Amino acid sequence: MASASEQLVANTTGFQSALLGWYRTHARVLPWRVAPSPYKTVVSEFMLQQTQVKTVLPYFARWLDVLPDFPALAAASEEQVLKLWEGLGYYSRARNLHRLAKEIVARPALPRTPAEWRELPGIGPYTAAAITSISFGAPAACVDGNVVRILARLTADATPFRDSASAAKAFAPLADALLSSTDPGDHNQAMMELGATVCFRQKPLCLTCPVRTFCAAGKTGTAEQFPKLAPKQMEQVTVVRAWCEHDGALLLHRAAADAKRFAGMHELPSAEHLALNPATVQRGELLAKKKRGITRYQITELIHRTPPPRGKLSSELVWLPLAELENVTFSGPHRRWIREIFATR
Ligand code: ADE
Repeated sequence: MASASEQLVANTTGFQSALLGWYRTHARVLPWRVAPSPYKTVVSEFMLQQTQVKTVLPYFARWLDVLPDFPALAAASEEQVLKLWEGLGYYSRARNLHRLAKEIVARPALPRTPAEWRELPGIGPYTAAAITSISFGAPAACVDGNVVRILARLTADATPFRDSASAAKAFAPLADALLSSTDPGDHNQAMMELGATVCFRQKPLCLTCPVRTFCAAGKTGTAEQFPKLAPKQMEQVTVVRAWCEHDGALLLHRAAADAKRFAGMHELPSAEHLALNPATVQRGELLAKKKRGITRYQITELIHRTPPPRGKLSSELVWLPLAELENVTFSGPHRRWIREIFATR
C-alpha cells in the first residue's frame, strides 16, 4: 500500500486547489498582502521571524510610514531603526534588515533567486523562500515550524525529531513536491495561514479544515499527536536587577556602541553590571518579578530597589533624568517594566 506521503503527493493538484481556494476566500487581510511590494514583503518577513502577526501589525504600520522603501531605510540612522524596532525583540533582525537595505540600494537591481537572497544579512532558507516566492514567483517552498506541523499531520508521520530544524530538513522534499508551480507565493502564504488560523498546535480546527480529506491524522482524530518533537530543553536562569533612583534620575545600563548585543540600548542594570553580588542587591525591596523565555532560556528577572552605588561608575552606567526616559531606546521589555514600576510604587 502507498504510504500517506505517497498518496498525498499523488493527489498534489487536488491538495493545492483545496488549499488555494480556501486561502483566496479566507485569508486575513494583512497590510503586507495589500498592494504587495518586495520591500513590504522583506520588512514583514523580518518582523514575523519569531513574532506573531498581531504583535507585528502596529510596528509594521509605523515602520512603513517612516521608512517607506529600501532607499529610506538605507539612509536611516541605526538609532532610528532600533527605536522603530524597540519592543519587538531579537534586535539583530533590525540591524540585519538595515544592512540588507544598504546592500540592496548599492545594486543595480533586486536579486530574484533564493540563492542570491541567502547571501544577504539575516536571510535563512525560510525567509529566502518566502521573499522570492511571494515577490517574484520563485518555486521555493517555505518550511518552518508551522509547515512541519501541517505536513507531519497530513502524513501522520511518527518519526521522532530531535528538534524543529531537523524536522524542517526532513519535510523539505515533501514541501517542494506539494508546492504549486503556478502560484508558489500564494501557496506558501496559504500554508502559513493554515498553520496560524486552523492547524493549531493544540486543539486544531480539523472539522473546518480545507484540506481535511487529504489529512491522515485529521481523519483519525489524532492531529494533536503530530509532529513527534522532543521537548525543548529549557535552561532556568535568574537575573537580579537594580532599581536605583536618585535626584530625579534612574540608573541604567547602556551597552557600548560597538557591543555585539544590544549596542547603544538601555536596560535596568543587573547586579553584574554594578559589580555587586546578586544577594546584596536582593537585600533591597522586591519591586517586580518577571518571567520571560528567550530561545532556550527560561529567565526569571527580579528587580530590587538598590541604593545609589558609591564611587566612579563604569562607562556603561548612566544616570538618565526621568524626563528623558521616553527619548532613549530600551532593549526587550525594559520600558514596560519601568512604566509598571512607576505606576505601582
Ligand atoms: N509568517 C511568516 N510570514 C508570514 C506571512 N507572509 N503572512 C503571515 N504570517 C507569516
